[in-house]
Amino acid sequence: LTIEWDIEAAEKGGYPHFALKEIHEQPEALRRALLGRIQDGQLHLSELDALRQSGALDSIQRIIIIACGTSYHAGLLAKYAIEKWARIPVETITASEFRYCDPIIGPETLCVAVTQSGETLDTLVGIRQAREHGAPVIAITNVVASAITRLSDAVLYLQAGPEICVVATKTFVTSVATLYLLGLYLGQLRGHIAQEQVSELLTAMERLPDQIQHILDHADSSDDELQSLAKRMAKVSSMMFIGRGVGFPTALEGALKLKEISYIHAEGFPAGELKHGSIALLDPDTPLFAIATTSHIYEKVVSNIQEVRARDAQVLVVATEGDEKIKQHADHVLYVPDTQEILSPLLASIPLQLFAYYVAVARGCNVDQPRNLAKSVTVE
Ligand code: AGP
Repeated sequence: LTIEWDIEAAEKGGYPHFALKEIHEQPEALRRALLGRIQDGQLHLSELDALRQSGALDSIQRIIIIACGTSYHAGLLAKYAIEKWARIPVETITASEFRYCDPIIGPETLCVAVTQSGETLDTLVGIRQAREHGAPVIAITNVVASAITRLSDAVLYLQAGPEICVVATKTFVTSVATLYLLGLYLGQLRGHIAQEQVSELLTAMERLPDQIQHILDHADSSDDELQSLAKRMAKVSSMMFIGRGVGFPTALEGALKLKEISYIHAEGFPAGELKHGSIALLDPDTPLFAIATTSHIYEKVVSNIQEVRARDAQVLVVATEGDEKIKQHADHVLYVPDTQEILSPLLASIPLQLFAYYVAVARGCNVDQPRNLAKSVTVE
């Protein structure tokens, strides 16, 4: 008896691509990211102890988050969380722009660099510049002892495990979670968030891995509902993604996933911005994905969806389980479990990743190594 095998196939653990394997590893990756950091409803970020004891965090007036691509989208989400919980103004800047914008930065500006690889040159140069201006730097990365860690005052590791696919999936979810923990930490430090609210949020975060597992199990067992949707969408040449509030960076990330893995042109917009120009692009051949999970601005998203449908564009929606009403406004609905609004991107991004993956497979793309892309971008 001979068994045909190769190391790569073994590493994929039975999945056809690293992308799909890593999408399925997200519940475990997220559990690891939270491991040791949430205990009995209390938050522990001992990695920040030294920085805190140095007093550098006491005088912080603002925060700048520097990142690229998917890490930038995680940083955009962090702005909502940190401003809400710590009431410190946050600016999230694309690293390649930060470097050349003569930033106003000093010891009162906390600089947070988000980079799964820890080697992205634009981000590295950005934090080097921030340090030269005396800013304390916290790095958020997945790679132990990567270049970014050596330039930082403190490091929060994603603890996501190795990510082989060029396209970031589990490092996105763990970056968002880690940034949110940082937001809660700063909120507590500033006394802007009550322990009861912290405990509620931490409990909701601890539930996320099981909720992601639920989405994945449903996708795996739903008679290839997602796959047949993806096959139909594989023929389009352009797609749009919209969302409001935390749904907006989720839309940006959904669009980036689709374009980098399937080579379909995709753009993300704040839903309310569509009518200021981009709605002109919509027609029956340009489908739109709307992020319409439960939120304080849900009705506003629904009215934006109605504007889109009036242009005969096909509408796909990510919505919260139990929302039957949304079906009357959509051609297809992908459901995710309910959670706190601020945490919803951690669930809504999962069907968007799966959608991008199956579209790419249907188009015969090189899923794990898309053309022109590298896992670490070490050039300017
Ligand atoms: C993500 O899917 C992309 N491959 C890319 O946008 C990436 O997020 C970006 O290059 C930043 O990488 P980093 O997180 O390693 O800094």
